[in-house]
Amino acid sequence: MLQSASKALFHLLAQSGALKKMASHYGMRHPHSFVRRFIPGETAADAIAAARVLEQNGFVESFDHLGESVTTLAEAEQAAREYLDVVRDVEAAGVERNISLKLTQLGLDVDRAIAVDHLRKILSVAEPAGFFVRIDMESSRYTDVTLDIFDTLWQQGYRQVGVVLQSDLYRTDKDLARVIALGGRVRLVKGAYLEPRAIAYRRKADVDAAYARLMKTLLIDGRYPAIATHDPAMIDLAKSFAAEHGITADRFEFQMLYGIRRDLQARLVAEGYRVRIYVPFGGEWFPYFMRRLGERPANVGFVIRGLLGENG
Ligand code: FDA
Repeated sequence: MLQSASKALFHLLAQSGALKKMASHYGMRHPHSFVRRFIPGETAADAIAAARVLEQNGFVESFDHLGESVTTLAEAEQAAREYLDVVRDVEAAGVERNISLKLTQLGLDVDRAIAVDHLRKILSVAEPAGFFVRIDMESSRYTDVTLDIFDTLWQQGYRQVGVVLQSDLYRTDKDLARVIALGGRVRLVKGAYLEPRAIAYRRKADVDAAYARLMKTLLIDGRYPAIATHDPAMIDLAKSFAAEHGITADRFEFQMLYGIRRDLQARLVAEGYRVRIYVPFGGEWFPYFMRRLGERPANVGFVIRGLLGENG
């Protein structure tokens, strides 16, 4: 309950233009700013520097050039161009070749066909260069269209592309069966968006129970699933279920967000699991940052201490 109230509050605050303007102005300025805990910086160079440190510590990563909900074709075109630059920069840097992107960033709200063209253009450069491209899942308005686009690309022969499914949505068992039947790769998350009660679980216990059920199906029937959560109970369950079913640690990976539960991230690497860290970067960090605050009200204390200069 507390979590959905907090999601609702931060969803509301995320719509505030004034707050966004203020945060964008001050948020990244200081090298130890509170935003940098979750977002290593605004440039690809910042993200690659963070990735090098992660790799030295045994992690792999996925780069997310932040952006979403663009409203003009020019912005969509620019986002696609920027992703092609990211592919080039990551390749040149010699770090892990894995990116995550959002369809609304490529213009889905403006023109579906153009968004798909942009994604195809990115895939046609990224795939031959050995990249894996994950299509993030946005709010439930986009679930059908995202899965349909993934399905079409898959039918067209793209294989280094995967999707995300959210355990808070009632529909996800069916969606999971569809992606497994295709042979596609799934990142399983709990879901970061505030969804209507008619289509989504609100209670943490229900979201967790669905997560556990979907995760077991994925581990048994999925292709190299990504168990993306910071929840120690879900992680322990994944470990014990995999061990009981003879699923070795090279057949799945854990994924976590940059800066969240770094203790747990390090512990999993020390235990021999593959852990991918989602590294978001870019100027459009505000909505991403607000979702992270909404997930955990305690983060607000962190922000306030940051504003008071106490987070060193
Ligand atoms: P839960 O919310 O139950 O938290 C478990 C514990 O994790 C908390 O007790 C706390 O210790 C820690 N924690 C969680 N969130 C925190 C935060 N913000 N700050 C500090 N500590 C925190 N969602 C989506 O809808 N579409 C997507 O494409 C993605 N992609 C994605 C990629 C990756 C790699 C991850 C890890 C997550 C996503 N998500 C996502 C976000 C996901 O849906 C979910 O909102 C968050 O992961 C939080 O849920 P947990 O599973 O961590 O559990």
